[in-house]
Amino acid sequence: MIIVKTAREIIRMQDACTLSARALKLAGEMVEPGVSTYDIDRAVKKFIEGEGGVPSTLGYEGYPASTCISVNSVVVHGIPSKKTILRQGDIVSIDIMAGMHGYHGDNAYTFPCGDISKEAQALLDATKESLYEGIKAAQAGNRTGDIGSAVQRYVEARSYSVVRSFTGHGVGANLHEEPSIPNYGTPGRGPRLIPGMTIAIEPMIAMGGYKTRILDDGWTAVTVDGSLAAHFEHTVAITPDGPKIMTLLD
Ligand code: MF3
Ligand code: CO
Repeated sequence: MIIVKTAREIIRMQDACTLSARALKLAGEMVEPGVSTYDIDRAVKKFIEGEGGVPSTLGYEGYPASTCISVNSVVVHGIPSKKTILRQGDIVSIDIMAGMHGYHGDNAYTFPCGDISKEAQALLDATKESLYEGIKAAQAGNRTGDIGSAVQRYVEARSYSVVRSFTGHGVGANLHEEPSIPNYGTPGRGPRLIPGMTIAIEPMIAMGGYKTRILDDGWTAVTVDGSLAAHFEHTVAITPDGPKIMTLLD
């Protein structure tokens, strides 16, 4: 069932989205050589709780942390660990969901750790831009396939590939709601976008092939070929006046 929210409910959801964005900014500022992903996770948890929110992923389907931190060939759902020490040249995808007033926000960003290669920077730029291409297509009356095809067209033109095994999704009182928002697809196909829907658009883009596999911890998704992957995400409300990005800071 697709949940459509009133304008009032969307205003109420804004605080969770803003908190998610502030937490992501704080996490990004901690990315530097020598820092462990565990340290970043602890700081995010403390920050979100200090602001009166909840780290939504902690305990969700058994997920053990307040962030997902996915380094280099880890695509998504990397579990923060004291053993994962960031190094110069890494690309570090951080995905954070915070809850407040009964709603959740969801956002992700891939940060460079120190100086990164030109190739890695190009992947980050293209993935970020593809998110904005997807957001542009998130117009009331369009369909989820319009978002997916916009993302896919942009990244495949640059010879990157769209990860298929994870998608964007509705988000609101639940972390994951219908509809699912694939980052590939056919224009005009899929569920129609209606004002009041709130969705997470989140391209996960690989430098090599799109296939992924899950490590033995049951969460960490890596590219099968070991190529780098990037991940950018915003929570977006469908409004009569076009898409509104809810996880922006001004
Ligand atoms: N933001 C992530 C997503 O949209 C949340 C991961 S869910 C968890 O999939 F299970 F890892 F917590
Ligand atoms: Co998400």
